[in-house]
Amino acid sequence: MRTHYCGDVNASNIDQEVEVCGWVNKRRDHGGVIFIDLRDRNGLLQCVFDPDDADMFATAEEVRNEFVLRVKGLVRRRPEGTTNDELSTGEIEVLGRELEILNRADTPPIQIDDDDTHEELRLRYRYIDLRKPEMQNRIQMRAKVTHAMREFLEGENFLDIETPMLTKATPEGARDYLVPSRTHEGKFFALPQSPQLFKQLLMMSGMDRYYQIVRCFRDEDLRADRQPEFTQLDLEMSFVDESDVMATTEAMIRQIYKKVLDVDLPNPFPTMTYAEAIKRFGSDRPDLRCPLELVDVADVLTDVDFKVFSGPANDEHGRVAASRLPKGTELTRKEIDEYTKFVGIYGARGLAYIKVNDLSQGREGLQSPILKFMPDEAVNTIMERTGAENGDLVFFGADKAYVVNEALGALRVKLGHDRGLMQGDWKPLWVVDFPMFEWDENAKRWFAIHHPFTAPFEEHLEKLESDPHHCLSRAYDMVINGTEVGGGSIRIHREEVQQRVMRLLGIDEEEAQEKFGFLLNALKYGCPPHGGLAFGLDRLIMLMAGADSIREVMAFPKTQTAACLLTDAPSEVSAEQLRELSIKVRQPQKEEK
Ligand code: AMO
Ligand code: AMP
Repeated sequence: MRTHYCGDVNASNIDQEVEVCGWVNKRRDHGGVIFIDLRDRNGLLQCVFDPDDADMFATAEEVRNEFVLRVKGLVRRRPEGTTNDELSTGEIEVLGRELEILNRADTPPIQIDDDDTHEELRLRYRYIDLRKPEMQNRIQMRAKVTHAMREFLEGENFLDIETPMLTKATPEGARDYLVPSRTHEGKFFALPQSPQLFKQLLMMSGMDRYYQIVRCFRDEDLRADRQPEFTQLDLEMSFVDESDVMATTEAMIRQIYKKVLDVDLPNPFPTMTYAEAIKRFGSDRPDLRCPLELVDVADVLTDVDFKVFSGPANDEHGRVAASRLPKGTELTRKEIDEYTKFVGIYGARGLAYIKVNDLSQGREGLQSPILKFMPDEAVNTIMERTGAENGDLVFFGADKAYVVNEALGALRVKLGHDRGLMQGDWKPLWVVDFPMFEWDENAKRWFAIHHPFTAPFEEHLEKLESDPHHCLSRAYDMVINGTEVGGGSIRIHREEVQQRVMRLLGIDEEEAQEKFGFLLNALKYGCPPHGGLAFGLDRLIMLMAGADSIREVMAFPKTQTAACLLTDAPSEVSAEQLRELSIKVRQPQKEEK
């Protein structure tokens, strides 16, 4: 139906006849001449209709926004002074010779050029929302990225292999989405939280290198960077150690950034241990664009007459950390109150601070509600450790270590943005040497930090039962600008070690057999050493596109309450369907009354 995309017609086509199809972005009547901006996925094209041809002109007059048209016409240079540098087609216009209305459109419920449309409306009319040039660009970028991924991985001999969607629960730590079985009364499939176990089985099958761009399902609390169904680039390799997986995947990310954004990422990416990341940045996914760091000061505050500090300073699970904000004395009382509220979100009960007016005057040059509690020696050490200078503000977190880490970890990133401290555009990083386990005080048991199939370091195996806390895993996370874009590990490939880890996690033999019997069995029949990684594709694209939510880079995302407004899913089903599935739905309480 057409010779060109609207957005592809340019000065090189002058004096040619072209045929284009698209949506009406805007129609303008200019005293006897009608201009129609026609839009398709590649851009906007200005079409002009003269009254000479009365029929055609009458058709042009009928046209409204979002009508679907086909236009045949002559490309000509725009009159001087009417060119538009912002459009690829801005030098030219098409003088209409034929105009066909392919379809009419009701007045659209959302405007294509309105950025402020409420998200609910955008999701309900997603097919219109996706017509926005910004959304077109993001979805096109996404396709470019997956294309580049496939190109790279095929070049490295990875095989694209599909794994089942109707399967058994894999423990990635979230709730499962269940699918009832009709043929096995009372039984359920789980949708995969990831293909973890299948990709390990594929290594045992001798497939050697596997990849898949695959949907994963997790029923968990949603945030800007989490969706109930999301996409992973999942991969696994045999006969490798962590350096092989890390080198391969970071080379892929470098190549993608170069191809899609023309950005050169560092080679190699820096690597940091989990312990160092927590100590310096309060986070296992530090945003290295922000130069602010935390320093420990508990040792000089154990004896101060200020419970807020001395409590955590004497608690083995506590932390007292300080950080210096350059030029922080500029902060107003109100701003400090707002930051105090901000850390409150993470459970911090306050945000103590010292304003450093003039170091040469000793205590006199400092200003703080808590100064009176602190002996000179402590103050001097804190100034020294934080590297404070005149004009700076030193702030403190004191609490259980996890509270201080979360609060100050988030605060440093917020301050980095608010105070214009961010340096550089792209800061990728590997975080390694994660602990294997984490103690859950409520459940009174150990949990796997990555997943139960991650291998411990060989030299830490002996601590597995005696000192689980200090048993480190062969896991690695790729972090870019403070977002965890991917995570993986070298896996356990010996059955005996897998059994020990299960036991430590409180999974007894019977339960292990019932849930992972197939994996434990498979480990007995010739399992190669193997490891892999999965990228959160949506998160990676979100970062690359500069979007602030993964919903902005998914064609049909769900809401924060895990619903699809477009199709109105989830929805009720017929009594007949339920009967077939042997399911009885309990009435919501309200209706029972
Ligand atoms: P993990 O659980 O770390 O590892 O997931 C890998 C990556 O997937 C992304 N991600 C999400 N993205 C959007 N919405 C979600 N709800 C969501 N959850 C996770 C993150 C994360 O880094 N099987 C292992 C991988 C392996 O060991 O090879 C796994 O799934 O970017
Ligand atoms: P208070 O004695 O509660 O008035 O607190 C004195 C100062 O210490 C205030 O600036 C509080 O914001 C701060 N503060 C209180 N609790 C904490 C905490 N857990 N961590 C850091 N600062 C705190």
